[in-house]
Amino acid sequence: MSRFKRVLIVLGSVVTVLVLAVGGLFAWLWTGADVSTVGKASFDNALAIPPLAESSVDKDGTRVFDLRMRAGETEFEAGRKTPTWGFNGSYLGPTLRAARGERVRVRITNGLDEASGVHWHGMHLPARMDGGPHQMIHPGGTWTPHWTVDQPAATLWYHPHPHGSTEQHVRKGLAGMFILDDQRSTKLSLPKRYGVDDLPVIVQDVRFDGAKLDGGRKIMQNVGFLGDRTMVNGTLRPYREVRDELIRLRLLNASTARTYAFGFPDGRALSLIATDGGLLERPESMERVQLSPGERAEIVVRMRAGERVMLRSFPQDNYGDSWQRRFGGGDDSFDVLELRAARKLRPSPEIPTGLGELETPDGTDAVRGRYFDLKRSGINGRSMGMGRVDETVTRGTTEVWTVRNSNGMPHNFHVHDVQFRVLEVNGEAPPPALRGPKDTVFLPNGTTMKLALRFTGPADPDTPYMYHCHLLYHEDEGMMGQFVVVEKGQRAQAPSGGGGTLGHSGHQHG
Ligand code: C2O
Ligand code: CU
Ligand code: CU
Repeated sequence: MSRFKRVLIVLGSVVTVLVLAVGGLFAWLWTGADVSTVGKASFDNALAIPPLAESSVDKDGTRVFDLRMRAGETEFEAGRKTPTWGFNGSYLGPTLRAARGERVRVRITNGLDEASGVHWHGMHLPARMDGGPHQMIHPGGTWTPHWTVDQPAATLWYHPHPHGSTEQHVRKGLAGMFILDDQRSTKLSLPKRYGVDDLPVIVQDVRFDGAKLDGGRKIMQNVGFLGDRTMVNGTLRPYREVRDELIRLRLLNASTARTYAFGFPDGRALSLIATDGGLLERPESMERVQLSPGERAEIVVRMRAGERVMLRSFPQDNYGDSWQRRFGGGDDSFDVLELRAARKLRPSPEIPTGLGELETPDGTDAVRGRYFDLKRSGINGRSMGMGRVDETVTRGTTEVWTVRNSNGMPHNFHVHDVQFRVLEVNGEAPPPALRGPKDTVFLPNGTTMKLALRFTGPADPDTPYMYHCHLLYHEDEGMMGQFVVVEKGQRAQAPSGGGGTLGHSGHQHG
C-alpha cells in the first residue's frame, strides 16, 4: 500500500469516527432534551394554600395590608432545607383580596439585603404606585403604595420588578396572588369558597441542585431557565382533596420562562371562565388552556365522586419549530396537581351562561396605532433604557397595538396598567381563550397580534409604565420598553432618577 493510500484510510476513519461521534452526541442531546414527569411519581404532598392576607381598615376606609420581603428556608422535601425568599413567610406570599371601589394601601418592607420592589401585575393604578423598576425599595426600606381598585373581578398577582434581576427574585420565591371581587362576581353562582372549591394554583418549574434551587440555563435553552419538575403553591407532587362537584382553579403561570398547556389526561372538557383581567362574557368549553409566563386563567372542572384526576401540562405543537419545541420546552409534559374527589360530593349549581361584561375596548374608537417588533435583543430594535421613554399615550384614548414575533423563538407581551382586548391573531378573529380581558399574550414565532388598549390615566408625564416580554430572562436582558400617559398636548419627561434621554415619542413604524 502506498503511503498516500494509508494516509487516506486513516483520514477516512478519523472522519467517520468524528461524524459518528457528533451524530451520536446530537442524538443523545436530542432524545435527552425533553422533560416529562408524567406518571413518574406519586403525588402525596398535601397542596399548600397561600393564606388570605390579613388586613385592617383605616379610619378613612382604606384597606391596609402588610408585606415583608425576607430570606428564609423552605423544606420542599422533608428534611432538606432550601434557601428561599418570600413575603411574610419563607416562600411565595399571602393572597391579597380586595373589592372594586375599595381603597387599598400596602406597607411593604424589604427585609432582604438587596434592593427589590413589588409590582401589581394586571392592576390598573397610577404609574407611581405600579412598582416597576423605578419604584425600588432599598434593604431595610419601606414603600407604601395606595390606590382605588377600579376594574372588574380578576385573578391578578404581585412580584418584584428590579431591572436586570426580576428572574432571580421571582425564582427565589417572591410572588403572590391578588384576587379582586366586584358586585357582579360575588353574586354569580360560581365556586367561590377560597381553598375549598376555589383554589389558587400557582405553577412554577424548578430544578434542584442538592438542596439549593438551581437557576442555570442549559445549552440551547434560549427562552431562559427551564426546570425539570413543577410545584404548585410551593408544593412538590401536590394533591388536594375536594368535596364539591365543581372545582374552580385559578391558574397562574408564575414560572420565569416556561409555557404550559393545561388539561386532563382523560380529555375531559374544562370550562374557561376568566382570563388575566377577569370573567369572560360566557364560559368556554375546551380541552386545554395554554399559559405563558405571567398569564392567568380561571377554569372550572367537573369531578366524579371518588376519582383521582391529574391536572397535567401537555406538549405544545404551536410552540415553534421542532428544534424549539425540543430544546425550548415545547415537547415537555408534567403532572401538575392531583385532585382527589371525596366518595360523596356536594352538588354544585351549574355554571351561569352569562358571566362578565367586557370593559376592554373593541378598537373602533382607536385614535392611533403603534407597532412592536419583538426581538430578544430588544423591542423595536432598542434594548431597555431606564431613562428613555419609548412611547407617549394620551389619557382617555384608545389605541391599537400591533405586536409581532418573527424572532425564531417564543416570546410573550405584557403591558402594565391596562387590560386589553385581542382583536386579531395573524389576521383572524382570536380563539375563545383570547376573548377575555388580557394583560399578557403568548406570541410563538410567526405570530402577529392586534390589541386594543384604552388608557384612562391618571396622567403622569414623568413616571413610566412598562411593556415587555414576560419571559423574565428576556426581560432582564432588555426586552422591555417604557410608556407614559399624558394629558392631551403634554410631553413626556425624562423619568426621575433615570438620567437618560427621551425617546422619540411620536415614533411609528411600518
Ligand atoms: Cu408581571 Cu412588568 O410584570
Ligand atoms: Cu405587570
Ligand atoms: Cu421573550
